Amino acid sequence: NIPKIVLTRPLMPEIMAKFQSRPVNLTCWETDTPAPREWLLDNVSGADALLVMLSDKVDKELLDKAGTNLKAISTMSVGVDHCDLAQLKERNVRLSNTPDLLTSATAEIGALLYLAAARRASESIAFIQRNQWPQVGWGPLLMAGQLSENKTLGFLGFGRIAQATMHRLVPFGIKKVIYTDSGRTDRSARNAELSKTYDIEIKRVDLSTLAQDSDALILLAAMTADMKHIINRDFLNNMKKTSFVVNVARGPLIDTYALNDAINENVIAGAGLDVIEGEPHIDSNHPLVKNDKVFLLPHIGSSTVETRYAMADLSVSNALKGAYNEDMQSQINL
Ligand code: GLV
Ligand code: GLV
Repeated sequence: NIPKIVLTRPLMPEIMAKFQSRPVNLTCWETDTPAPREWLLDNVSGADALLVMLSDKVDKELLDKAGTNLKAISTMSVGVDHCDLAQLKERNVRLSNTPDLLTSATAEIGALLYLAAARRASESIAFIQRNQWPQVGWGPLLMAGQLSENKTLGFLGFGRIAQATMHRLVPFGIKKVIYTDSGRTDRSARNAELSKTYDIEIKRVDLSTLAQDSDALILLAAMTADMKHIINRDFLNNMKKTSFVVNVARGPLIDTYALNDAINENVIAGAGLDVIEGEPHIDSNHPLVKNDKVFLLPHIGSSTVETRYAMADLSVSNALKGAYNEDMQSQINL
Protein backbone atom coordinates (compact mmCIF):
# COMPACT_ATOMS: atom_id res chain seq x y z
CA ASN A 1 0.00 0.00 0.00
CA ILE A 2 1.43 3.33 -1.05
CA PRO A 3 0.83 5.92 1.71
CA LYS A 4 -1.27 8.99 1.02
CA ILE A 5 -0.08 12.44 2.04
CA VAL A 6 -2.32 15.52 1.93
CA LEU A 7 -0.51 18.87 1.59
CA THR A 8 -2.47 22.10 2.10
CA ARG A 9 -0.19 24.52 0.29
CA PRO A 10 2.19 24.11 -2.64
CA LEU A 11 5.79 24.45 -1.41
CA MET A 12 8.92 25.55 -3.27
CA PRO A 13 9.62 23.36 -6.37
CA GLU A 14 12.97 22.14 -4.97
CA ILE A 15 11.17 21.04 -1.81
CA MET A 16 8.24 19.45 -3.67
CA ALA A 17 10.80 17.30 -5.48
CA LYS A 18 11.56 15.59 -2.17
CA PHE A 19 8.21 13.82 -2.30
CA GLN A 20 9.75 11.71 -5.07
CA SER A 21 12.32 10.25 -2.68
CA ARG A 22 9.83 7.62 -1.46
CA PRO A 23 6.69 6.17 -2.99
CA VAL A 24 3.71 8.28 -1.88
CA ASN A 25 0.37 9.38 -3.26
CA LEU A 26 0.40 13.13 -2.85
CA THR A 27 -2.81 15.15 -2.79
CA CYS A 28 -1.96 18.85 -2.87
CA TRP A 29 -3.97 22.06 -2.88
CA GLU A 30 -2.62 23.64 -6.06
CA THR A 31 -2.87 27.40 -5.65
CA ASP A 32 -0.82 29.70 -3.44
CA THR A 33 -3.73 30.55 -1.13
CA PRO A 34 -4.95 28.80 2.00
CA ALA A 35 -6.61 25.49 1.17
CA PRO A 36 -10.37 25.93 1.67
CA ARG A 37 -11.70 23.94 4.59
CA GLU A 38 -14.19 22.19 2.26
CA TRP A 39 -11.39 21.02 -0.04
CA LEU A 40 -9.49 19.65 2.91
CA LEU A 41 -12.53 17.85 4.33
CA ASP A 42 -13.27 16.39 0.88
CA ASN A 43 -9.73 15.19 0.23
CA VAL A 44 -8.44 14.00 3.57
CA SER A 45 -10.11 10.61 3.57
CA GLY A 46 -7.68 7.71 3.84
CA ALA A 47 -4.65 9.95 4.38
CA ASP A 48 -1.65 8.47 6.20
CA ALA A 49 -0.14 11.87 6.91
CA LEU A 50 -1.10 15.54 6.59
CA LEU A 51 1.31 18.39 5.97
CA VAL A 52 -0.46 21.50 7.21
CA MET A 53 0.12 25.21 7.71
CA LEU A 54 -0.75 27.12 10.89
CA SER A 55 -3.90 28.35 9.15
CA ASP A 56 -5.36 24.84 8.85
CA LYS A 57 -7.44 23.65 11.76
CA VAL A 58 -6.65 20.07 12.72
CA ASP A 59 -9.70 19.27 14.80
CA LYS A 60 -12.07 16.40 15.52
CA GLU A 61 -14.09 16.96 12.36
CA LEU A 62 -11.02 16.77 10.13
CA LEU A 63 -9.58 13.78 11.98
CA ASP A 64 -12.92 11.95 11.68
CA LYS A 65 -12.92 12.58 7.93
CA ALA A 66 -9.32 11.41 7.64
CA GLY A 67 -10.16 8.08 9.19
CA THR A 68 -8.09 5.45 10.92
CA ASN A 69 -5.27 5.32 8.40
CA LEU A 70 -3.96 8.60 9.71
CA LYS A 71 -0.59 8.25 11.42
CA ALA A 72 0.93 11.69 11.52
CA ILE A 73 0.54 15.45 11.21
CA SER A 74 3.50 17.53 10.12
CA THR A 75 2.95 21.25 10.61
CA MET A 76 5.15 23.85 8.94
CA SER A 77 5.17 26.04 12.05
CA VAL A 78 6.47 26.07 15.57
CA GLY A 79 3.06 26.83 17.05
CA VAL A 80 0.64 23.92 17.33
CA ASP A 81 -2.42 25.75 18.65
CA HIS A 82 -4.28 24.97 15.40
CA CYS A 83 -4.10 21.27 16.30
CA ASP A 84 -6.33 19.54 18.84
CA LEU A 85 -3.62 17.78 20.85
CA ALA A 86 -6.03 15.74 22.97
CA GLN A 87 -7.71 14.36 19.85
CA LEU A 88 -4.35 13.47 18.32
CA LYS A 89 -3.25 11.72 21.49
CA GLU A 90 -6.50 9.79 21.74
CA ARG A 91 -6.09 8.57 18.17
CA ASN A 92 -2.40 7.85 18.48
CA VAL A 93 -1.57 10.28 15.71
CA ARG A 94 1.94 11.72 15.92
CA LEU A 95 2.57 15.46 15.57
CA SER A 96 5.74 17.24 14.53
CA ASN A 97 6.52 20.95 14.14
CA THR A 98 9.49 23.03 12.99
CA PRO A 99 11.07 24.56 16.10
CA ASP A 100 14.63 25.86 16.50
CA LEU A 101 15.30 26.59 12.86
CA LEU A 102 12.96 29.59 13.00
CA THR A 103 14.19 30.96 16.31
CA SER A 104 16.63 33.51 14.83
CA ALA A 105 14.26 34.81 12.17
CA THR A 106 11.42 35.26 14.65
CA ALA A 107 13.67 36.89 17.24
CA GLU A 108 14.74 39.41 14.57
CA ILE A 109 11.11 40.35 14.02
CA GLY A 110 10.70 40.61 17.81
CA ALA A 111 13.61 43.06 17.91
CA LEU A 112 12.30 44.95 14.88
CA LEU A 113 8.83 45.36 16.40
CA TYR A 114 10.35 46.41 19.72
CA LEU A 115 12.40 49.16 18.06
CA ALA A 116 9.58 50.18 15.75
CA ALA A 117 7.21 50.61 18.69
CA ALA A 118 9.82 52.26 20.96
CA ARG A 119 10.74 54.80 18.29
CA ARG A 120 7.23 55.36 16.95
CA ALA A 121 8.03 54.19 13.43
CA SER A 122 4.46 53.64 12.33
CA GLU A 123 3.29 57.04 13.58
CA SER A 124 6.28 58.69 11.94
CA ILE A 125 5.54 57.10 8.59
CA ALA A 126 1.89 58.17 8.82
CA PHE A 127 3.05 61.72 9.66
CA ILE A 128 5.05 61.89 6.43
CA GLN A 129 2.35 60.27 4.33
CA ARG A 130 -0.21 62.78 5.62
CA ASN A 131 2.01 65.67 4.55
CA GLN A 132 2.41 66.94 8.09
CA TRP A 133 6.20 67.18 7.89
CA PRO A 134 6.36 70.44 5.86
CA GLN A 135 4.23 72.29 8.43
CA VAL A 136 5.54 70.84 11.64
CA GLY A 137 9.20 70.70 10.64
CA TRP A 138 11.85 69.51 13.05
CA GLY A 139 10.53 69.69 16.60
CA PRO A 140 12.18 69.21 19.99
CA LEU A 141 9.78 66.42 20.90
CA LEU A 142 8.66 65.40 17.41
CA MET A 143 7.99 61.66 17.55
CA ALA A 144 10.02 61.43 20.75
CA GLY A 145 10.06 57.78 21.77
CA GLN A 146 11.63 55.59 24.41
CA LEU A 147 15.36 54.91 24.72
CA SER A 148 16.33 51.29 25.43
CA GLU A 149 19.11 52.08 27.87
CA ASN A 150 18.38 51.19 31.48
CA LYS A 151 14.96 49.80 30.66
CA THR A 152 13.19 46.66 31.80
CA LEU A 153 12.03 44.18 29.18
CA GLY A 154 9.12 41.97 30.14
CA PHE A 155 8.48 38.67 28.41
CA LEU A 156 5.23 36.76 28.52
CA GLY A 157 6.70 33.33 27.86
CA PHE A 158 10.44 32.84 28.10
CA GLY A 159 11.37 30.04 25.73
CA ARG A 160 13.89 29.86 22.95
CA ILE A 161 12.53 32.70 20.84
CA ALA A 162 12.15 35.03 23.82
CA GLN A 163 15.72 34.31 24.86
CA ALA A 164 16.96 34.91 21.31
CA THR A 165 15.05 38.21 21.24
CA MET A 166 16.61 39.23 24.54
CA HIS A 167 20.03 38.35 23.09
CA ARG A 168 19.40 40.82 20.27
CA LEU A 169 18.10 43.61 22.52
CA VAL A 170 20.53 43.48 25.44
CA PRO A 171 23.20 45.29 23.37
CA PHE A 172 20.83 48.28 23.22
CA GLY A 173 21.35 48.76 26.94
CA ILE A 174 18.47 46.84 28.53
CA LYS A 175 19.03 46.73 32.28
CA LYS A 176 16.70 44.04 33.45
CA VAL A 177 14.54 41.21 32.13
CA ILE A 178 11.40 39.98 33.87
CA TYR A 179 9.13 37.23 32.64
CA THR A 180 6.26 34.92 33.33
CA ASP A 181 5.90 31.47 31.87
CA SER A 182 3.74 28.42 32.19
CA GLY A 183 6.35 26.92 34.46
CA ARG A 184 6.52 23.37 33.22
CA THR A 185 10.30 23.67 32.97
CA ASP A 186 12.56 24.77 35.81
CA ARG A 187 14.63 27.52 34.25
CA SER A 188 16.49 28.79 37.30
CA ALA A 189 19.82 27.23 36.31
CA ARG A 190 19.50 28.52 32.77
CA ASN A 191 18.55 31.97 34.04
CA ALA A 192 21.54 32.16 36.38
CA GLU A 193 23.74 31.34 33.41
CA LEU A 194 22.00 33.90 31.19
CA SER A 195 22.28 36.54 33.91
CA LYS A 196 26.00 35.98 34.06
CA THR A 197 26.47 35.91 30.29
CA TYR A 198 24.56 39.13 29.71
CA ASP A 199 25.37 40.84 32.98
CA ILE A 200 21.75 41.78 33.64
CA GLU A 201 19.17 40.74 36.18
CA ILE A 202 16.68 38.11 34.95
CA LYS A 203 13.73 37.44 37.17
CA ARG A 204 10.54 35.41 37.04
CA VAL A 205 7.61 37.47 38.28
CA ASP A 206 3.84 37.24 38.56
CA LEU A 207 1.51 38.65 35.92
CA SER A 208 0.72 41.90 37.73
CA THR A 209 4.41 42.65 38.29
CA LEU A 210 5.00 41.93 34.63
CA ALA A 211 2.38 44.55 33.77
CA GLN A 212 3.63 47.13 36.26
CA ASP A 213 7.38 46.87 35.76
CA SER A 214 7.83 46.27 32.03
CA ASP A 215 8.95 49.23 29.94
CA ALA A 216 8.22 47.00 26.97
CA LEU A 217 6.21 43.81 27.04
CA ILE A 218 7.07 41.15 24.47
CA LEU A 219 4.63 38.29 23.98
CA LEU A 220 6.30 35.01 23.14
CA ALA A 221 4.07 32.46 24.79
CA ALA A 222 2.34 29.50 23.21
CA MET A 223 -1.36 30.00 22.64
CA THR A 224 -3.49 27.77 24.85
CA ALA A 225 -7.13 28.16 25.90
CA ASP A 226 -6.21 29.63 29.30
CA MET A 227 -4.06 32.31 27.63
CA LYS A 228 -6.85 33.83 25.54
CA HIS A 229 -7.01 37.61 26.09
CA ILE A 230 -4.51 37.41 28.92
CA ILE A 231 -3.56 40.91 27.81
CA ASN A 232 -6.89 42.57 28.57
CA ARG A 233 -7.92 46.01 29.78
CA ASP A 234 -7.07 45.19 33.42
CA PHE A 235 -3.58 44.13 32.45
CA LEU A 236 -3.09 47.19 30.24
CA ASN A 237 -4.36 49.50 33.00
CA ASN A 238 -1.50 48.28 35.16
CA MET A 239 1.15 49.11 32.58
CA LYS A 240 3.22 52.28 32.44
CA LYS A 241 1.91 55.07 30.19
CA THR A 242 5.18 55.03 28.26
CA SER A 243 5.21 51.27 27.79
CA PHE A 244 4.24 49.32 24.71
CA VAL A 245 3.26 45.81 23.74
CA VAL A 246 4.98 43.62 21.16
CA ASN A 247 3.26 40.44 19.98
CA VAL A 248 5.34 37.87 18.11
CA ALA A 249 3.27 34.87 19.23
CA ARG A 250 -0.46 34.58 18.57
CA GLY A 251 -3.11 37.27 18.12
CA PRO A 252 -5.68 36.00 20.64
CA LEU A 253 -3.25 36.53 23.54
CA ILE A 254 -4.44 40.15 23.29
CA ASP A 255 -7.97 41.52 23.53
CA THR A 256 -7.82 43.57 20.32
CA TYR A 257 -10.38 46.19 21.29
CA ALA A 258 -8.96 46.64 24.78
CA LEU A 259 -5.55 47.25 23.21
CA ASN A 260 -6.92 49.74 20.71
CA ASP A 261 -8.80 51.65 23.42
CA ALA A 262 -5.83 51.62 25.79
CA ILE A 263 -3.62 53.14 23.10
CA ASN A 264 -6.21 55.75 22.11
CA GLU A 265 -6.75 56.72 25.76
CA ASN A 266 -2.97 56.98 26.36
CA VAL A 267 -3.03 54.17 28.88
CA ILE A 268 -0.03 52.72 27.01
CA ALA A 269 2.08 54.24 24.24
CA GLY A 270 1.64 51.82 21.35
CA ALA A 271 2.17 48.36 19.97
CA GLY A 272 4.23 46.36 17.52
CA LEU A 273 2.39 43.31 16.26
CA ASP A 274 3.31 40.47 13.92
CA VAL A 275 0.08 38.67 14.72
CA ILE A 276 -3.48 39.80 15.34
CA GLU A 277 -6.68 38.12 16.38
CA GLY A 278 -8.78 37.29 13.31
CA GLU A 279 -5.85 37.19 10.88
CA PRO A 280 -5.65 36.95 7.94
CA HIS A 281 -9.09 38.58 7.64
CA ILE A 282 -7.78 42.01 8.58
CA ASP A 283 -8.63 44.84 6.19
CA SER A 284 -7.71 48.50 6.06
CA ASN A 285 -10.74 49.42 8.19
CA HIS A 286 -9.62 47.34 11.15
CA PRO A 287 -9.11 49.66 14.15
CA LEU A 288 -5.57 48.47 14.76
CA VAL A 289 -4.69 48.95 11.09
CA LYS A 290 -6.04 52.51 11.24
CA ASN A 291 -4.27 53.21 14.53
CA ASP A 292 -1.07 55.15 13.80
CA LYS A 293 0.49 53.93 17.02
CA VAL A 294 0.30 50.32 15.97
CA PHE A 295 3.05 48.87 13.82
CA LEU A 296 1.47 45.80 12.25
CA LEU A 297 3.09 43.07 10.15
CA PRO A 298 1.28 40.15 8.45
CA HIS A 299 2.66 37.24 10.50
CA ILE A 300 6.11 37.13 8.91
CA GLY A 301 8.16 36.27 12.01
CA SER A 302 9.82 33.24 10.46
CA SER A 303 9.81 34.62 6.95
CA THR A 304 13.35 34.74 5.71
CA VAL A 305 14.15 32.79 2.57
CA GLU A 306 16.60 30.54 4.42
CA THR A 307 14.21 29.88 7.27
CA ARG A 308 11.17 29.12 5.15
CA TYR A 309 13.15 26.72 2.95
CA ALA A 310 14.44 24.97 6.07
CA MET A 311 10.95 24.77 7.57
CA ALA A 312 9.46 23.43 4.34
CA ASP A 313 12.25 20.89 4.00
CA LEU A 314 11.83 19.61 7.56
CA SER A 315 8.06 19.47 7.34
CA VAL A 316 8.24 17.44 4.12
CA SER A 317 10.74 14.97 5.52
CA ASN A 318 8.57 14.68 8.62
CA ALA A 319 5.45 14.08 6.52
CA LEU A 320 7.24 11.32 4.60
CA LYS A 321 8.45 9.64 7.81
CA GLY A 322 5.05 10.09 9.43
CA ALA A 323 3.25 8.55 6.45
CA TYR A 324 5.47 5.48 6.85
CA ASN A 325 4.73 5.47 10.58
CA GLU A 326 8.33 6.26 11.50
CA ASP A 327 9.54 8.66 14.20
CA MET A 328 9.67 12.22 12.94
CA GLN A 329 12.16 14.91 13.90
CA SER A 330 10.90 17.33 16.58
CA GLN A 331 7.94 15.15 17.41
CA ILE A 332 5.72 16.69 20.07
CA ASN A 333 5.05 14.84 23.29
CA LEU A 334 1.29 14.53 23.32
C1 GLV B 1 4.62 30.94 13.42
O1 GLV B 1 3.86 31.65 14.03
C2 GLV B 1 4.82 29.57 13.71
O2 GLV B 1 4.15 29.04 14.61
O3 GLV B 1 5.65 28.96 13.04
C1 GLV C 1 9.07 28.65 20.76
O1 GLV C 1 9.48 27.66 20.18
C2 GLV C 1 9.83 29.24 21.83
O2 GLV C 1 10.67 28.51 22.32
O3 GLV C 1 9.62 30.39 22.20
